[in-house]
Amino acid sequence: MTTPTYADILSVVADDFAIMDKQVFGSLNSKVRLVMQVSKHVIDAGGKRMRPLITLLTARMLDDVQNQQALELGAITEMLHTATLVHDDVIDESGMRRGKPTANATWNNATAVLVGDYLIARSFNLLVGFNNMSLLKVFSDGTCDIAEGEVLQLQHQYNIETTEADYRQIIDGKTSRLFMMATQGAGILAGRDELLDTLGAFGYHFGNAFQMIDDVLDFVGDSETMGKNLGDDLAEGKPTLPIIKTLELLKDSDPANYDKLRIAVQTGKTDNAGELIELVRSSGALDYCKRCALDETRLAQQALANLPDNQYRHALYQLTELASSRLV
Ligand code: IPE
Ligand code: IPE
Ligand code: MG
Ligand code: MG
Repeated sequence: MTTPTYADILSVVADDFAIMDKQVFGSLNSKVRLVMQVSKHVIDAGGKRMRPLITLLTARMLDDVQNQQALELGAITEMLHTATLVHDDVIDESGMRRGKPTANATWNNATAVLVGDYLIARSFNLLVGFNNMSLLKVFSDGTCDIAEGEVLQLQHQYNIETTEADYRQIIDGKTSRLFMMATQGAGILAGRDELLDTLGAFGYHFGNAFQMIDDVLDFVGDSETMGKNLGDDLAEGKPTLPIIKTLELLKDSDPANYDKLRIAVQTGKTDNAGELIELVRSSGALDYCKRCALDETRLAQQALANLPDNQYRHALYQLTELASSRLV
């Protein structure tokens, strides 16, 4: 079976997607010109809009009508996602995002942080308009979890003792939570409370797989395709799964190289970046990470099997396949 393209998957909800896409920026109404300017810079740069796509497909899977609230919720998930990226690029000192200079690089850290804050505040401003307490609770709890995930990651920076369990806790917060909000939010709007756990399980495992793949691609991906600089994780002393696993594999078998990587993670000094990246690539760690990502993909697909069987569910399945095929 050939893997469908992203455009194929998106075409299933093309009309919904086009309306939602306009609303991401169109829902911003700041009186302050700089807020609009910075937001536009990041939102117009593109991005896959994958979280809203998940919301739209989930909404249609549960009820095949054009639901204005679901479209708006999609736009809100993208707004929240954009805010986390703007903040993440400040923390990671990243210079490129979505193929353009980041907000922090174009303006400065303070501007990026404050505009990221605005995007989160505006998201909640819009969410209040739904007049739906369950929805508000899932989104407010989830947003706390995202922030906690990023703080937890910061705490583990330069720490070579970071374990796979720590890593999983970090990505659960910083990435998978928003995927869960994207699916469960659509479930709440459809009034399908009995499906929320299953929808959450799908979002959770898909999010885990997605972040694990992103972390592998930081070592083997193509900067142009990804629209961001790669190799950043190592340079930031960020113990992602590829690094955790490489350290584990080298520790007893190759103490000299273990020390090289250990010192790089502990100091964030990577003058020998090429050599270190090669160490990770040749260690076997990436195969392990790919297997973990595949396991998460399969768990996401198992959750999907318990949801209504229609073309939208099929598209969600294809999306998980496409995400995991970024590895080959
Ligand atoms: C980037 O997310 C952040 C991660 C969770 C790895 P995406 O890869 O979905 O970024 P955009 O929205 O397409 O730019
Ligand atoms: C994902 O972490 C960022 C968020 C979920 C906020 P990364 O730091 O790996 O994301 P990229 O690689 O910068 O897109
Ligand atoms: Mg980053
Ligand atoms: Mg990354």
